[in-house]
Amino acid sequence: MQTTSIHGMWSSRLAFILAATGSAVGLGNIWRFPYVTSDNGGGAFVLIYLACILLVGLPIMWTEIVIGRRGRMSPINSIRELADDAGASRKWMGLGIIGVLAGFLILSFYSVVAGWTLHYGFLYLKELFGGTPITDPEATFTGLLASPGELTFWHGLFMLMTMGVVAFGVEKGLERAVSILMPMLFVLLLVLLGYGMNTGYFTDAASFLFRPDWSQVSGGMIVTAMGQAFFTLSLGMCAIMTYGAYLPSGVNIPKVGITVAATDTVVALIAGLAIFPIVISFGLDPEGGGAGLIFTSLPLAFAEMPFGIIYGFLFFTLLSIAAWTSGISLMEPATAYIVESTNLSRKAAALCVAAVAWIMGLASVFSFNLWAEVSIGGRDVMSAIEYVANDIMLPVGGLLTALFGGWILSSRITREELDKKMPTWAFNAWLWITRIVTPALILVVLAGLFGII
Ligand code: PHE
Repeated sequence: MQTTSIHGMWSSRLAFILAATGSAVGLGNIWRFPYVTSDNGGGAFVLIYLACILLVGLPIMWTEIVIGRRGRMSPINSIRELADDAGASRKWMGLGIIGVLAGFLILSFYSVVAGWTLHYGFLYLKELFGGTPITDPEATFTGLLASPGELTFWHGLFMLMTMGVVAFGVEKGLERAVSILMPMLFVLLLVLLGYGMNTGYFTDAASFLFRPDWSQVSGGMIVTAMGQAFFTLSLGMCAIMTYGAYLPSGVNIPKVGITVAATDTVVALIAGLAIFPIVISFGLDPEGGGAGLIFTSLPLAFAEMPFGIIYGFLFFTLLSIAAWTSGISLMEPATAYIVESTNLSRKAAALCVAAVAWIMGLASVFSFNLWAEVSIGGRDVMSAIEYVANDIMLPVGGLLTALFGGWILSSRITREELDKKMPTWAFNAWLWITRIVTPALILVVLAGLFGII
C-alpha cells in the first residue's frame, strides 16, 4: 500500500480537516443554500436537503476519502489502480473523467460568482475610504451584472488567485491561511446571526427554514435538494477523493468525514438563520430570492448596522476566501491528473486548467448581459450550467462512487479503512447504505429528472 502521494501530503489530521472543510464551506453554504432554499419555498426543502446529507452525502464522503487514500493519485488514476486491484474493469475510470469534467463546469461559474464577492469586498473597502455608499443594493447588483467587462475582470482575478495556490502546491500557504480565516468567517456569521436575531423576525425566519410545507414538494425540488447536498459537500466530482489522496495513513476516516460534513451543514444553517431575518425585516419576500439574494439583502443590513461598512467589507472578503479555498479544490483534481499523465510541470498544468475554466466561465458572464435573452430549457446560461453540473453530473458521479465503493472496492480495503475504525454496526450501515440505499435514492431522483417515473 502506497503511503505517500507524489503531489505532496497534508502535514496532519487537522490539516486535512481544514482543507476538506475549506473545500466544502464556500459559496455553496452562504450564497447558494439561502437562495435555493428561498426559491424552493423553505422548510420542506431544508429537511429533504438534510436527509440527503445524511443518507447520501456522508456515506459518499467516506467512500471518496477511502478511494483517494488507497489510490494516492488523481481520481482517474486512483480508480484505475483500485479497479485493477479488485480485478474489475478499467471502465470505472469513467467516474474520474466525469468528476474532472464536472469540476471544470463548476469552476467556470463558481469563479464568476466568487468574482461578485470580490467586487463587493472592494466596494466596501472603497466606502471605508469615503467611496459612494451602496444605497440601492438592487441597482448596484443589476449594474454589476450588466457589465461584462467588470464581471470578466473579477472572474479573471479569482481564477488567477486560485491558480496561484494550486500552482505552488497546497501544503505551504494554504494550510496556514485556512486555519486562521475559516474560524474568522465563522465568527462573522455569528455576528450576522446576532444581528438577525435582533431584527424581531428571527422566529419567522426559523419557521420559514424549518417548518415544512409538504405541499411544496415536487420532483424538481428533490432534485435540487440532492444536487445541493453534493455541491455543498464537494462530492460527486472527486474533489474530496483528491484531498483524500494526500491524507496520512492512520487518520480515522469516519471521524474526519463526520467532522467535515457536520461543520459544513452547521455553516449553511447558520447562514440561513442569519440571512432570512434580514430579508424579512426589510420587507423582501423570503421566497424566490434568486441568485442575487445575499447581494441584494445583506447590504441593506450593513447600511443600518453600527460599523456596517466594516462588517460588509469583512463579510465579503471572508466569503471570497471561503470561495477561494473551494476553488482550489475544484482545480486540483484536473491539475493532478495532467501532472501524472503528461510531462508538464504543476505550474503549467494549473495554468492550462485555469485558462480553460476561465474561458468557459465567460458563458456565465455573458448570461447576464450579452446573452441575457438566451434560454436553455427555460434557464439562463449560467443556471443551465449549474443545473447540468450540480443536479445531474454530481449525482451521477456520486452514484458511480457509491457503486464502486460498495460493490467493487475490495473488502480488504474497506475493512481496513472503515470497519476497523468504527463499531461494526456502523460499518454495516455504511456498507448497505452505500450498496443499496444511496444508489437507489440517486437513481430515483435521476429517473424523476428524466421523466422516467
Ligand atoms: N463545496 C463548495 C461550496 O459549497 C463547492 C464545491 C463543489 C467545491 C464541488 C469543490 C467541489 O462552495
